[in-house]
Amino acid sequence: MLIAPSILSADFAKLGEEVEAITKGGADWIHIDVMDGHFVPNITIGPCVVGAIRSHTNLHFDTHLMIDHPERYVPQFLKAGSDRICFHLEAAQDPAATLEKIHEGGAKTGIALKPGTPVEKVYPYLDKTDMVLIMTVEPGFGGQKFMADMMDKVKAIKEKCPQMLIQIDGGVNLETIGAAARAGVDVCVAGTAVFGKTDYAAAIHELKEKAHEALL
Ligand code: DX5
Ligand code: ZN
Repeated sequence: MLIAPSILSADFAKLGEEVEAITKGGADWIHIDVMDGHFVPNITIGPCVVGAIRSHTNLHFDTHLMIDHPERYVPQFLKAGSDRICFHLEAAQDPAATLEKIHEGGAKTGIALKPGTPVEKVYPYLDKTDMVLIMTVEPGFGGQKFMADMMDKVKAIKEKCPQMLIQIDGGVNLETIGAAARAGVDVCVAGTAVFGKTDYAAAIHELKEKAHEALL
């Protein structure tokens, strides 16, 4: 199981240090939550912050765009140093074209589904995207409760496309990561479960241990 701490739960007053700390603590990816106050009722950061933290780690920048018209901002997030750009199916005018634009820029892709979006909606894009992101909370905020019924979507995709990389995002912690591992999740985003702890390395290690134990 890969762990992608979400910097939304980090101390924004010292983001560079926080990114260095989770890198040292064994994070696999850095999950960057971009929100525009339109697609979700919250506003966070933009490409300039991605660029500012890029030099603080070599880890994979997993950029989660919770914004309207994501296709308009792909070039800026590529330039800022995103290794992967995930956008919401619900926000994309032309998902296939957006996937292509991200790939042309040399980055990996992800298509994200809100909890209310049926999993079948992503099926036409399974041969075009590198990853599917199944939201396990309503996008917009960290610290929400895990929606366990979303594991049915994970199983459905795994069955239809066994080699597809699947990420879940929202409410992942020591109590919920076991169900995710058993459903076939490959990457777990964890915000409060990491940044809410004092020892980031221990938090990441314990999450990985729990995921491993669930598969024994
Ligand atoms: C929510 C974000 C998530 C969130 C995860 O809209 O996409 O990445 O920050 O935070 P936790 O792990 O605390 O639910
Ligand atoms: Zn996210």
